[in-house]
Parts: sequence; C-alpha cells; structure tokens
Amino acid sequence: MQAIHIPAFVTSLNSLAVSSVPLPTVNATTLLIRVTHVSPTHVDILYAQGKHQNNRRHAKPPFILGMDFAGVVVRAPAGFEYQQGDNVYGSYFGAFAEFIALDVSNGPGGVRRVPKSWTNAEACAVGASGAISLGCFYRAGKIRKGDWVLVTGASGGLGVIACQIAKILGAKVVALAGDTEKAQMLKSIGVDACVSYHEPKWESTVLKITGSGVSMVYDAVGMVESSLRCCKFGGTVVIVGFAGRGGDMESLKVNRILLKGAGVVGYRFGEHGRQKPAETAKIWKDFDDMVDTGLIRPVVYNTPYQGLASISTAMNDMHNRKAWGRAVVTISQADNQARSRI
Ligand SMILES: NC(=O)c1ccc[n+]([C@@H]2O[C@H](COP(=O)([O-])OP(=O)(O)OC[C@H]3O[C@@H](n4cnc5c(N)ncnc54)[C@H](OP(=O)(O)O)[C@@H]3O)[C@@H](O)[C@H]2O)c1
Repeated sequence: MQAIHIPAFVTSLNSLAVSSVPLPTVNATTLLIRVTHVSPTHVDILYAQGKHQNNRRHAKPPFILGMDFAGVVVRAPAGFEYQQGDNVYGSYFGAFAEFIALDVSNGPGGVRRVPKSWTNAEACAVGASGAISLGCFYRAGKIRKGDWVLVTGASGGLGVIACQIAKILGAKVVALAGDTEKAQMLKSIGVDACVSYHEPKWESTVLKITGSGVSMVYDAVGMVESSLRCCKFGGTVVIVGFAGRGGDMESLKVNRILLKGAGVVGYRFGEHGRQKPAETAKIWKDFDDMVDTGLIRPVVYNTPYQGLASISTAMNDMHNRKAWGRAVVTISQADNQARSRI
C-alpha cells in the first residue's frame, strides 16, 4: 500500500513523499480500516522533523506519519461494535496510509463511529481534538456558567473545538487569532470576542472585554506569561501546547503566578491515557455525548487536498499559518459525501 513513510527525520516538509510499504498484518483482534481522509496536525509537523518529545521514544524512524483519520471498516473481529462498512474516525499513529490496522482486543480506544450528521471529512477534522480539549477543561477544574475563558491558538485544529466546548460548558469565550479571516471563522462558531495577537498589549484588550480577566486560559501557543496577565485573581492556565514557540520554551517569573493567586497546570493527552486509561475513556464518552447534542461543529479548511501526495502541501499550509481549523486530505472515497464547508 501507499503511505507517508519516514525512514529518517526531514528538514523540509517538501521532502515528505509517498512510498510503498507492506500492507498491515491482521489477526482475529484487528480492526482493519480503509482510510478515506486524514488531517495533519501540529504534532505531525514536529514528528516529521524529530522535534517532539515523543520522538525520543514513541516516534522513532522508521515510522508512518499521521494521527487523525476517518475511514471505512474493511474487517472487524466477530461481535465487535464496528463492522464492515461502518464509517469510523479517531486518532492512530501511522494514519497517513491507505489502510490502518488497530488491535482492538482491549476495546476501540480512540476510534469512534462517524456521527450521522457528519461526513467522514468533517469527522476527520475533529479527530482526537475533542477528547484532548475536553481533557484540558477537566484538568482546569470547574468552569461556571458565565465565566470567561481565553483560548490561544483558537483558529487551530484544537482551538476551534476548545472554543466550542467552552461554550457548551457555559463559558464566554475570547479567542486569540492572527487575522480577520480567522476571526470571522471563529465568530461563525460562536466565540463571543476575538483579539488579535498582532495588537500591541493585546492582553489589556482581553482585560477590557472581560472586566476583571478570565477564569481560565486554554494555552495551545506557549504564552504563559501573557496568559497570566489575562487571568482574574485565582484563574487557571492550562498548558496545552507550544504552537508558537518553534521549540524555544518560555522562561517565567514565577512571582506572577503568586501575584495572581493562579494555577498553572499541564495536560498531556497521550500520557494521561497511558497513566489513567479509565479517565481518558470517560473523556471520550463525555465528548461523544457532546457530539450527540449536535453542538460540535467540525471546522474544515476550505481548500481541498487530494491524495497522499498532497499531504506535504497541506502541512506547509498549516506551517505557514494559511490554513485554519483542520486541512483535510481526501485519500479515498467515503460512503457519505461532503455536505458542508465553513
Ligand atoms: N496537550 C496535548 O495533549 C496536546 C495534544 C495534541 C497537540 N498538542 C499541541 O497543541 C498545540 C496546538 O495544536 P494544533 O494541532 O491545534 O495546531 P494548529 O492547528 O497548527 O494551530 C496552531 C495555532 O497556533 C496559533 N499560533 C501559532 N503561532 C503563534 C504565535 N506565534 N502567536 C500566536 N498564535 C500562534 C495559530 O494561530 P494563527 O493561525 O491565528 O496565527 C493556530 O491557531 C501544538 O503545540 C500541539 O503540539 C497538545
């Protein structure tokens, strides 16, 4: 089969090429999926270049790149909850391929059925972002109705889902975004206010909009110092990621945490799942329930990408901050057809 195989880390995303690899082996506990769509994430960009902390252990070459996917079940264990022909989505390391084979002897893990109201492309755009983002809110503690939440990296794949989860939890959302096209998209998914990080002292604008500051910051960019400035007394900053840091971690004057009486916590979805599988299973279940309400709207970037060969273009569009939401690449035809694009 064809796949984006990484024999060695790349220095340029243009070097990502399609190559032939053996078909995955299957046995009685394998869920074999024909991939219909994939969506590259920031993690894939880091994985390809060997810049992610997981490259030291979990993602060492040679490997097949990719995580978030949607597809159609080709073969399933007898009696398993998904059977041949079912559309499924989720996150699996090695997803940028024509087929993926998951061992489901311990259950479906992060693989879900595509909701009837979503196409495979839309489900792919959500991938693991819903569970990751909901886990961050649980890590922060209780959000009360009417609390303000700041989402940094709001236009990104995680950010667009985090904004929607915050709204479902009853919060008011101020989203940090880089341009007006992204701000318009964020308004269309329900955020209450958008602030541009190009504005000097944008933190003051957040304080002005929210009155006394935000109760929680969902920080996907790596701006803890700015996040603390935006917090009200006793607020919480959840460190989600470092999309804006290019590997150069922030140094922080810790007295800023004390002065705000703030909490700064980290949430790492993969490790949380390994350490606390039951909690992660509950997070997926709770996110499924949110999806069932119909209030989660997948955000697919409005440029079509066709075939595994276009993955490097999609990844460059993300890396160059052109794309918003998720850039979704069609690998093969799904049984359902694209219905909507934002
Ligand atoms: N904690 C976990 O378990 C977990 C799991 C998966 C991913 N992550 C991490 O979460 C982060 C976000 O992932 P993603 O897939 O959502 O990424 P993404 O789709 O590429 O989005 C990145 C976002 O960051 C913003 N951004 C980038 N550089 C910025 C800067 N210098 N200043 C302000 N905003 C900036 C972009 O905003 P504009 O386009 O508006 O510039 C974009 O909205 C990544 O660091 C990823 O590694 C964490």
